Amino acid sequence: PASDTFIEALPKAELHVHLEGTLEPGLKIILARRNGHPLQDMTEDDIRASYGFHDLPSFLALYYEGVELLHTEQDFYDLCHAYLKKAASQNVLYSEMFFDPQLHTRRGIAFETVISGLNRARKDAQRDFGIRSQLVMCFIREMSAQSAEETFTQAQPYLSDIVGVGLDSDEKGNPPAKFANVFKRARDAGLHVTMHCDIDQENTHEHIRQALEDLGSERLDHGLNILEKPDLLRQARERHIPFTVCPFPNMAIRPSSNEKDIRALLDAGLTITINSDDPGYMQGVYMTEAMKMARDGAHLTPDELLTISRNAFNAAWIGEEERQTYL
Ligand code: ADE
Ligand code: ZN
Repeated sequence: PASDTFIEALPKAELHVHLEGTLEPGLKIILARRNGHPLQDMTEDDIRASYGFHDLPSFLALYYEGVELLHTEQDFYDLCHAYLKKAASQNVLYSEMFFDPQLHTRRGIAFETVISGLNRARKDAQRDFGIRSQLVMCFIREMSAQSAEETFTQAQPYLSDIVGVGLDSDEKGNPPAKFANVFKRARDAGLHVTMHCDIDQENTHEHIRQALEDLGSERLDHGLNILEKPDLLRQARERHIPFTVCPFPNMAIRPSSNEKDIRALLDAGLTITINSDDPGYMQGVYMTEAMKMARDGAHLTPDELLTISRNAFNAAWIGEEERQTYL
């Protein structure tokens, strides 16, 4: 297996991280003080001790509560800047970051406030830490298709700052097909497309099929249940669909996942990447720790981790010239 120092030194690209999920307890307290929220009286340890989830809905409840602390352009700046600083310290050279504008606009925060803070942080982080990043706008799947359409319309003035669109949050009863029209609009506008097919969700195989065959998803976020469907698996292999695998949440939801699934995905000839997902809520598991988890579970060799890392740079939504600077 690869050593810790090999993993720490490996140049990395992250393709599956939710900015709102990078909110650490320490920053929560700062934001609570800044915005007069009762959480300001808690300690970081109290906050951490209150975390615990065993499935997607119980995780989302925590995540939605945390999101409420974000109000101003500076709040969004601080969130994104802290994540990029941490990522850069782990030799992440490039990150594609999900954000969930609807969780903010539905609270009365302007789309512009959110994206301005994130963009200013991206620019400063590139200057200060050398890390490159782009934004992927996610639609909240339990909200209406109409709300997603309105969000895409609001995003029009900022499309040059958004490289792709994704689909996240509560999958139960919310198949990709619900959002066919807004994803078509996004593709027509030249945006890239990905979507979550979270682990062990209701109708997971049909959701994976829709994502790949009907919605034009170029990647699958999680997507592990493809292992149970040979025809979908063959399609993903032939199309070289990248899978953004996230060891920590997968293990939290399906405890055997780390050992079995990563090895099975590799054995099936799929293109996998390793990512953090929501590191602020996941016991400090950022990219380096996620790769160590994957190494420990699947006994990954240095060659395999190098391939996994190169998969991420190859799957990144960047120009070929930039790609060559990483490979
Ligand atoms: N929102 C934040 N993290 C998520 C995940 N892993 N799955 C679905 N929605 C999310
Ligand atoms: Zn995710």
